[in-house]
Amino acid sequence: MVKCRRCLVEEASVWIPYAKLHLCKKCFSEFTIKRVRETVEKYRMFGSTDKVAVAVSGGKDSAVLLYTLKKAFPDVRFTAFHVNLGIEKYSEDCLKKAEALTKMLNLELFIYDLKREKGFTIDDFKHTRFKRRICSVCGTIKRQVFNEVSEKIGVNVLATGHNLDDMVEIMFSNFLAGDFEQLSRLKPVIPPFHPKLVKKVKPLFRIPENETALYAFFNNIPVREEECPHVKGSRLIERKRLLELFSKENPNFKYQLLSVFLKKLIPILEEREKEKAFTVCEVCGFPSSTNICGACRRIMELKSVLGKV
Ligand code: AMP
Ligand code: FES
Ligand code: ZN
Repeated sequence: MVKCRRCLVEEASVWIPYAKLHLCKKCFSEFTIKRVRETVEKYRMFGSTDKVAVAVSGGKDSAVLLYTLKKAFPDVRFTAFHVNLGIEKYSEDCLKKAEALTKMLNLELFIYDLKREKGFTIDDFKHTRFKRRICSVCGTIKRQVFNEVSEKIGVNVLATGHNLDDMVEIMFSNFLAGDFEQLSRLKPVIPPFHPKLVKKVKPLFRIPENETALYAFFNNIPVREEECPHVKGSRLIERKRLLELFSKENPNFKYQLLSVFLKKLIPILEEREKEKAFTVCEVCGFPSSTNICGACRRIMELKSVLGKV
C-alpha cells in the first residue's frame, strides 16, 4: 500500500505526476482547494468586495468550480447561474444537476432559458448551414448570453470552469485555425474593456481535467451523465486524444505549453488586438468588431431559416 505523502496515514488514491505526489482522497481535496485559492489570489481574479457570478453548466468542471470557490472563499458572495440551451434530453439533465448542486451548497440558482428569452434553442441550428458546427455556434451564443446575464444579475466578475485541458485544447484549435482574435481571449483573466462588460476569470485553468473529475467523484458532487449530442464526432475529442499522447511522454507538457503561450505569445497578440477598432453591435449593444456581432448575425440567420422551415 502506498501512503499519502501529506498525512502519511491514509492510503494514497491519487498520483499527481507533475508534483510527484501520492495523495489520499482528503489530502487531494485540500490540495485542489489550495490551488484554486492560490490561483485566484495570484492572478487577482476577485476580492471580498467583488460580486462574482459562477457559470454552472451541469458538468463536472463548473460544478467543481462552484464547490471549491465556496470552500476557498467563504466570505465572498457567489451567484450561480445556468443557461438552459434547449438541447434535447441533455439540457434537462444539465439543469437538474445544476439545481442539485446549488441546493447542496445552499445557494440560489439563476436560470436563463434560451427558448423563453430569445425564442430559439441550440438544437434549432440543425436547420442552418451551421449544422455540422453547432458546438462553435453554441460557444458564440453562450458568450453573448453570459454578458447579458452578468449585466442582469449585477455582478462585476464572471467565473467559468475552463480547466487546463480545455485551455490547451482551445489554444491548439484556434492556433490551427489561425484565429488570433479568439486566441487573445484565452487568458485566465480578461479585464473588461468596455463598460457593458465584466471581468472574466478562469480559476481552474491550472487544474487538469482528470483532477476535476476525481474531485467531483470523491466529493459526491452531482454532475450530468449525458454527453452533449453535438460533441460527438467533433474534432475536439480527436485533438484531446493527441494532447494526451504528448502528456504521457511528458506530464508537464500541457502546463508548459500554456505557460509559454501566456507569457510569450499573449502579449504580442494583445498589442495586435489593441490596434483593432471596435464598435458596439447595433442589435445587442455589446462590443463587437463589426456593426452586427457574430452572435446576432447567427441568430438573425437562424430566425430567417426557422421562418421557412
Ligand atoms: P464549454 O464552453 O462547454 O467548454 O464550457 C466552458 C464553461 O462555460 C463551463 O465550465 C461553464 O463555466 C460555462 N458554461 C458552459 N455551458 C454553460 C451553461 N449551459 N450554463 C452556464 N454555464 C455554462
Ligand atoms: Fe453547446 Fe453542446 S453544449 S453544443
Ligand atoms: Zn449583437
